[in-house]
Amino acid sequence: MTNYEDLFKKVIAHCKEYGFVFQSSEIYDGLSASYDYGPNGIELKNNIKDYWWKSMVNINENIVGLDAAIFMHPNTWKASGHVDAFNDPLIDNKDSKKRYRADTLLENYISKIEAKIEKDCLKAAKRFGQAFDRKKFVSTNKRVLARQAEINNLNEKIHTHISSGNLSAIKSLIEDLDIKCPVSGTSNWTDVRQFNLMFKTQIGAAKSADLYLRPETAQGIFVNFLNVQKTSRMKIPFGVAQVGKAFRNEIIARQFIFRMREFEQMEMQFFVRPGEEIKWYEYWKNTRMKWHKSLKMGNENYRFHDHENLAHYANAASDIEFKFPFGFKELEGIHSRTAFDLKSHQKYSGKKLMYFDQEINKSYTPYVVETSIGLDRMFLAVLTNSLCEEEVGNGEMRTVLKIPPLLSPLKAAILPLTKKDGMPEKARKIMQDLQIDFNCQYEEKDSIGKRYRRQDAIGTPFCVTIDHQSLEDNTVTIRDRDTMIQKRVSATSLRSIISEKVNFAKYLY
Ligand code: GAP
Repeated sequence: MTNYEDLFKKVIAHCKEYGFVFQSSEIYDGLSASYDYGPNGIELKNNIKDYWWKSMVNINENIVGLDAAIFMHPNTWKASGHVDAFNDPLIDNKDSKKRYRADTLLENYISKIEAKIEKDCLKAAKRFGQAFDRKKFVSTNKRVLARQAEINNLNEKIHTHISSGNLSAIKSLIEDLDIKCPVSGTSNWTDVRQFNLMFKTQIGAAKSADLYLRPETAQGIFVNFLNVQKTSRMKIPFGVAQVGKAFRNEIIARQFIFRMREFEQMEMQFFVRPGEEIKWYEYWKNTRMKWHKSLKMGNENYRFHDHENLAHYANAASDIEFKFPFGFKELEGIHSRTAFDLKSHQKYSGKKLMYFDQEINKSYTPYVVETSIGLDRMFLAVLTNSLCEEEVGNGEMRTVLKIPPLLSPLKAAILPLTKKDGMPEKARKIMQDLQIDFNCQYEEKDSIGKRYRRQDAIGTPFCVTIDHQSLEDNTVTIRDRDTMIQKRVSATSLRSIISEKVNFAKYLY
């Protein structure tokens, strides 16, 4: 088993053991790519949501919130292009009967060439030592240049074939590159065919048009553009933010909660003057990257991936990628969507979706810059980055979730040293005092050491112990999750000590 598979298995097992994530309908042997969040999971998820909402809505005067319905008029999805174009190209291997996304097979092929370039660089770095200049090496080394040319050539072909819907050319490309099924090892492929990712359903008992479960939350914002703008008296530039479920019938939903069929998105559509969209696109790219880095999960774990192949509605797009155990993968998308959506809804609905800009005395259809992050994917990023095992002396190990304290499910555990001599009563009083501001847990079972381990495993930043001395002088010991250092402090100072670590302002500013 590779290191990453090992770590990933541990994360999944940990999520189950400590009530973060369960397989959906587990007692019926589960439903693939659907998951339920347990008591600790929902706290972590809510904290991520809360941090996002505060950063996007509460501290920006020109961004407001919305909670649109999941069901929308069927024409919404015609206007947005999802009925015609929200497809994945599918291919099956006839021997293994395994199904793949054809574009993913090609992307994996490209990743292998990229890995070879990395290897070339590593070798050269070893050879040249301190004098190694990576930029110069990749722009001059013949072998690397040839590999890069192959990648560029393939990317161009993939883009051309996918955007023109030339499915037989995609199949030929897979065959020409001799891409084999990882399971059967053969190239016995079916033809490539398109598969629409939207889930269809019907409303009421009467025969009616097909409804779709929304595949993105964004369209709820577009169709409400004027409702929000008028009722909130917003002036351009302004944004509308939303958190909600989205549904996609993913062909291959693997890697735990990374790719699910039912998931949650946190999206913000920022409406701007035509011609100013690239300025705002750059602004939101940087602002969102800053938000990620504010959580201090390692700056080296993030990178931008600017899109070369743009969606039909976009004039610029970039992903913020995070280093998951299985490599750098998309965590958030920032897209300059032009006026495509508003114009299209205007056409399909027959209603004007224009804005009168008093400053320039002109009416126009605003352009849109969107930020779109998967809440579940962010949850996975936090968990995979936080889970570690470390030695704590005497050969003993502990499992600890070093979650950014702001996001931890619990902020403090309140632990009476024993169940007698008035310690539980004193601990309960401290708990009552703190729990209004912080999510706390009272625990009196097992030894203090065992209780510490349990709290480490769910990422609680502080353990507060109430002992004999606490009854006499109102002091307690407070233990830091990461350093394991214990300090005796006055019980009256607990609020400010905890607040110092979990304060929203400390992170963002
Ligand atoms: N409105 C734009 C939009 O939906 P997207 O790149 O398709 O763009 C945005 O999705 C984000 O939603 C992704 O960056 C990812 O974090 C999350 N996401 C997309 N599909 C997902 C899935 N099947 N499971 C979990 N998260 C997903």
